[in-house]
Amino acid sequence: MRNAPSSVEQGRCPADFDFFDENTLNCPYRFYEVLQEQAPVYHLPDTNIYMVTRHADIKTLLKDTATFSNNFTEQLKGPEPSPDVTAIYARAWQPVDTLITADPPRHKTYRTLVNKVFNQKRVDAMEDYMKRIVHELIDGFIERGECDFISEFTTPLPVYVIADQLGVPRKDLRDFKRWSDSFARRLSQMATPDEQIEDAENIVAFQFYFAEMCEQRRNDPRDDMITDLVTTTIEDPDTGETRPLNMEELQSLLQQLMVAGNETTTSAITGGMVSLIQNPEQLHALTLDPAGIPQAVEEILRMESPSAGLWRVVKKETEIHGVSIPEGSLLMLRYHAANRDRALFDAPNELNIERANANDHIAFGQGIHFCPGAMLARKEMHVAFTALLSRMTHFRIDESKSDLTYWPNIVLRGLKSLHIQFDQRVD
Ligand code: HEM
Repeated sequence: MRNAPSSVEQGRCPADFDFFDENTLNCPYRFYEVLQEQAPVYHLPDTNIYMVTRHADIKTLLKDTATFSNNFTEQLKGPEPSPDVTAIYARAWQPVDTLITADPPRHKTYRTLVNKVFNQKRVDAMEDYMKRIVHELIDGFIERGECDFISEFTTPLPVYVIADQLGVPRKDLRDFKRWSDSFARRLSQMATPDEQIEDAENIVAFQFYFAEMCEQRRNDPRDDMITDLVTTTIEDPDTGETRPLNMEELQSLLQQLMVAGNETTTSAITGGMVSLIQNPEQLHALTLDPAGIPQAVEEILRMESPSAGLWRVVKKETEIHGVSIPEGSLLMLRYHAANRDRALFDAPNELNIERANANDHIAFGQGIHFCPGAMLARKEMHVAFTALLSRMTHFRIDESKSDLTYWPNIVLRGLKSLHIQFDQRVD
C-alpha cells in the first residue's frame, strides 16, 4: 500500500469510510476488504450509487445487459452547463451513443465495425513502430540518469501509438494531447467553470480537426483506421438501411478510440514501474529473464486497474445480495476492488509476477464492452518494460519529487507524479 493514512487503514465497517474522500480514493484497499466482507453491494450514503466490489458478482452482472445498461450519459450529465459552454458545443456535432454508452442491439453495429478495423494483425504490425518510439523516448533522458517518467515516457507513448493507428501526423500531436486531456477532465466532472469553457473549446477543436481529416481520407484513402472508418458501411441500427457512418458517429468513435487508451495505458505503465521498483527481487528476475514480462504485465494490470470503476444504469428494480436497488440507480462496478478480491487472489495487495491466475483480472472489463484496445495496451506495456529493463538498471524513485499519490478521480486511477533515477546498463 502506498501512503496509507492510518484512519483509512483502520476502518472496520463501511460507514467508517467516505468513498469520495481523497484519502480513501488514494488508498482504498481496506475499504474494499470491508465492503467485500460486509456489504458487497454498498449504497454510497446520500447518493443513488450502489458499489459492487466482489469479482464474482461483477462478472455475473456484466452478462445482464438488459437490467444493467451502459447508457449512463444522462445520469452523469451533472449540473447544467453554463450558456457559454452550451453555445460552444452547439458549434459542432452532437453526441450519439456508439460503444461505451450503447446497449444491444445498437452496440453491436459499432462494435463489429471497431473489431474489424482494430484487429490483432494491425496491432502486431505496430510492434516495430512501438519499439522505435519507446527507444526514442528513452534516448531523450537516459544520459541524465533521471527523468519525469510520466511526462517524458508514459504520457507520450500511448498518444504517439494511437495517433499513428488512427493516421494523425506527428506534427499535430501537441494538440492531440491537449484535446485528450480535456475529454478526461470532462469525464472526471471536476472541472472549474473556466476549465469547462476551455474543455468545450478543445473538444470542438478536436471535432473540426477530425472532420477535416475524414474528408481528406475520403478523397485520398490511406492504410489507417480513419480511412477504414470513412470508407466502410454499417446497417443503420434503427432502419436497417446500409449506409456510411455519419459525422456524429465518426466523431463518437474517434473520440473513444483516441481518449480511452491514453490515461489508462499511462497509468498502467507508471504504476507498474513503481510496483517493480518497490519489489527489487522481482524486477531483477525480469531483467534476467524478460520472457516473464507478459505475465508480469497481467499482474500489473490486476494491481493497477486504471479503469478503476465503470457505471451501469439499473433499468428495472432489482435485488442483489438482499439489497434492493431502485430503477434508475447507478451501479459502480469497482474493477479495481474485484482485482484485489481475496476470494480469488492470494495476498492481493502484493505484486507477484508469477501469480498463476493473474490473468483472471477484469482490468479490461468483460462481456460485450470488453476493451477493444486490450491487445494494443498489452503490447505497449510489453514493449515498454522490455526496452526499459534492457537499457537501464538500479531504478530508484526520487522521493523528493514523487509523493506517490493518485488523482482524486472515481473512474480513472493514476499516479499524479513519478520521477525516477537509474543507471545505464553497460553489459
Ligand atoms: C491499460 C489500458 C486500458 C485499460 C485498463 C482499459 C480498460 C477498459 C475497460 C475496463 C473497458 C470496459 C468498460 C465497461 O465495462 O463499460 C474498456 C472499454 C473500452 N476501451 Fe479500454 N482500456 C485500456 C486501453 C484502451 C486502448 C489502448 C483503447 C483504444 C485505443 C481503448 C478503447 C476502449 C473503448 C473504445 C472501449 C469501449 C468498448 C465498448 O463499449 O464496446 N482502451 N476499456
